[in-house]
Amino acid sequence: MALPDVAQVAHILAALPAGLAALALGLPLLGFLGRTRSSGNGGRPPRPEARVTELEHELERLRTVIRQTASLNATLSYDRVLERVLDVSASAISNGNPEDRQLISVLLLVSGDCLEVALARGLTTADQRVRLRGESGAIERALTGGNLVEIDDPGKDPELQQFAAMHQCRSGVCLPLVVGLEVYGLLLFVHPNPAFFSADRVELLESISQQALVALQNAKLYHDLQLEKEHLTEAQEEARKKLARDLHDGPTQSVGAIAMRVNFARRLMERDTKAAADELYKIEELARRTTKEIRQMLFTLRPLILETEGLVAALRYLAGKMDDTHGQQVLVEADAGAVDDLEIGKQGVLFYIAEEAVTNARKHAKATHIWVRLKRSGDLLTLEIQDNGAGFDVAQVAANYEQRGSLGMINLHERAEMLNGLMRIDSARGQGTRILALVPLTPEEADRLHRPGFKA
Ligand SMILES: Nc1ncnc2c1ncn2[C@@H]1O[C@H](COP(=O)(O)OP(=O)(O)OP(=O)(O)O)[C@@H](O)[C@H]1O
Ligand SMILES: [Mg+2]
Repeated sequence: MALPDVAQVAHILAALPAGLAALALGLPLLGFLGRTRSSGNGGRPPRPEARVTELEHELERLRTVIRQTASLNATLSYDRVLERVLDVSASAISNGNPEDRQLISVLLLVSGDCLEVALARGLTTADQRVRLRGESGAIERALTGGNLVEIDDPGKDPELQQFAAMHQCRSGVCLPLVVGLEVYGLLLFVHPNPAFFSADRVELLESISQQALVALQNAKLYHDLQLEKEHLTEAQEEARKKLARDLHDGPTQSVGAIAMRVNFARRLMERDTKAAADELYKIEELARRTTKEIRQMLFTLRPLILETEGLVAALRYLAGKMDDTHGQQVLVEADAGAVDDLEIGKQGVLFYIAEEAVTNARKHAKATHIWVRLKRSGDLLTLEIQDNGAGFDVAQVAANYEQRGSLGMINLHERAEMLNGLMRIDSARGQGTRILALVPLTPEEADRLHRPGFKA
C-alpha cells in the first residue's frame, strides 16, 4: 500500500468540513504529522503498513481536534466555552500515552486587578482559589509581550509556585488571551516531563488559543448582554415598585384625608358654618398640595425640560419645585458649559442621581439648605449634593441595607457605574451629608479614575 505523503495529508485536511478551524490549524498539524514518522521506533524507519496505520490514527485524532476547535464557536454559553477550551487543548496535545494524564491545564481570567482560576484540570481545591497579580515571572512576560511564553520550571516561577500541584512540574507554556489593549486572561499548561511540550505541541496550543480567544470574546459579549438585559428588567421592576410605593405614601393618603375631611366639613356646616368654612379652606390647601406632589412625581418620572434644555435647566427646575411643593431651599451652582460634552441620556442619569440625593436630604436630613454643584475640571465632571442636616451613619445603613426594602442608595451607586464613574457618600450624625458623583468624560479619564489610589 502506498504511503500518504505530506502533500496528500494536506489535501485531506483541506477537505475537512470545519474549514475555518482547519485553516487556522492546518500548518501546525502538517508539521505534527510530518514529524510523527520518526517517533516510537528506536530510530529505525517504521514498516510501511505500521506507518500507514499510525498516520491514519493520527489523522483521525486531528480530525477530532479540528471538529472540536470549530465547535468552540458553536456555543455562546460562557461556561461551556471555558470547558471546551481546556478539553480541546488537552486532547490536541495528547498522544494517548499514560503521561498525558499528568497534564495540568488552567484557564485564568482577569477579575478586577487580579487573575482568577476560571477553570482548571489537575489543580488541588486550594489551588483553585489562588489569585495571581500577574506582576512577575512567566505570567508577567506573557501579558506584557502578548506572546506565548515557555516555562522551564513552573514550580520555581515566582507566581506559579503558589499552585501546589505545579511543584512537581518541569515544563509548561503560558498563552496570553489578549486582543488589542484588552486582556481577557491566560491559558496555562504544565507537565512534569521537561520535554513534554515539543515544538509541535506548542504550535498546536498556540493555534487553539487563537480560536479560543475568538470564542471567549463572543461568549463574553453575549454573557454581558444577557446580564445587562436582566439588569434593565430588574431596574424597570424596581422603578414600578417605587412608583407604587410613592403613590401609596403620598397622593393616595392625601386624597383619602381630603375625602374624610370633606365629610366632616359637610356635617359641621349644619352646626357651625364659620368652623366649616375654616375646615374647607384647609381642605383646599391640602388638595392644592396634593396636586403639586403629583406634578412633582410626574416631573421626576419624565422631566421634559431635561430633554429640551439639558441638565442644568432641569436641576434649577427641580430646585424650584422643591421650594414650591415642600418649602425646601435648594441652591444650584453650575460651571458654565460643564455638561456640554455629555450626551443627553447621560445627563438624564446625573439628573436622577441629583433627584434621589436631594429627595433624601429633604426627607431624612431636615436640612435648612441643600446645595447641588456641578463642576468640570479637565475631563472629569463632578456632581455634588450637600446638605447641612442630620447626617447618618453610612456604614450602618449599608450593613443592613438588604432588610430595609429601600432602593435609593443602590440606585445612586448603579447610576454612577452606568456612567463609568464613581460614587462617594460622606456623612456623619449631626454633620450633614455630601454625595459626590465623579464622571469621566473620556476613556483616558475613566482609566485614571479607576486606577488604585485615584485622588479627586
Ligand atoms: N441626606 C441624608 N441625610 C440623612 N439621612 C440620610 C440621607 N440620605 C440617606 N439617609 C439615610 O439612609 C437611608 C437609606 O436611604 P435610601 O435612599 O436608600 O432609602 P429611603 O430614602 O429610605 O427609601 P427610597 O430611596 O427607596 O425611597 C435613609 O432611610 C436615611 O436613614
Ligand atoms: Mg431615598
